[in-house]
Amino acid sequence: MSWGLQNRVSRLMKGGRTVMLAIDHGYFQGPTTGLENPRKTITSLLQYADSLMLTRGILRTSVDPGESLPIVLRASGGTSILKELSDEVVTTSIEEALRLNASAVAVSVFVGSPNERQTLANLAELVNEGERYGMPVLAVTAVGREMARDARYLGLACRISAELGASIVKTYYCEDFRKVIDGCPVPVIIAGGKKLPEREALQLAHDATSEGAVGVDMGRNIFQSSNPAGMIKAVRGVVHDGKSVDEAFRIFEKEKPPRAE
Ligand code: 5RP
Repeated sequence: MSWGLQNRVSRLMKGGRTVMLAIDHGYFQGPTTGLENPRKTITSLLQYADSLMLTRGILRTSVDPGESLPIVLRASGGTSILKELSDEVVTTSIEEALRLNASAVAVSVFVGSPNERQTLANLAELVNEGERYGMPVLAVTAVGREMARDARYLGLACRISAELGASIVKTYYCEDFRKVIDGCPVPVIIAGGKKLPEREALQLAHDATSEGAVGVDMGRNIFQSSNPAGMIKAVRGVVHDGKSVDEAFRIFEKEKPPRAE
């Protein structure tokens, strides 16, 4: 692994842990609730994130070029919620990622989907190109509508991603999560998934990091929260400061703006 690639990976981590803020949802969902105006959504959150995951379009339009937060650039797409989600291609080159000063690129793999081979080839292509320039690849183990989110399936998808050369793998928390971690030789982070009550989302982050994940790549459970800044601070408490779920929930509650009468 080149020094440049290791240096980029280390930019994403603080003491081996990471809170990545995901706002790339629009690349297949369009104007996702809470992200209708990305710039407005992220303004109060960037200071609490270790990195920001997004597409180049939102980076260019919604993030100040003076921003020093490491960028994880979504590099796959080409489909929408109206079509087969797994039908992705590489949309953003490594050259473009370098031009945008990204710290990593992200690509979805849909293991078990009709487009499994194509999406794994997308990952391999970005890894091959990324190795030439020291650009790490984050593999996103995407789950199609009909796919199980269990340790057997997610373990398979994570291991294949690592075997193809991903530097970091993002997956979902599941029962027997340790099996997923034990079978994956590169760091694993978890997605938050659909919006949950805040305490449950903190429990998810807590369980995943206690069982071996190095952090989260969380979107909706932060930006769709009634108090996004309080929520990301609480998530940081879990991931970086070893807070219990109760302690983290108190951070969220404390930061909550008073309800308008
Ligand atoms: C979509 C993604 C999202 O970034 C990822 O799912 C994290 O967001 P959330 O916590 O809302 O699930 O990669 O493919």
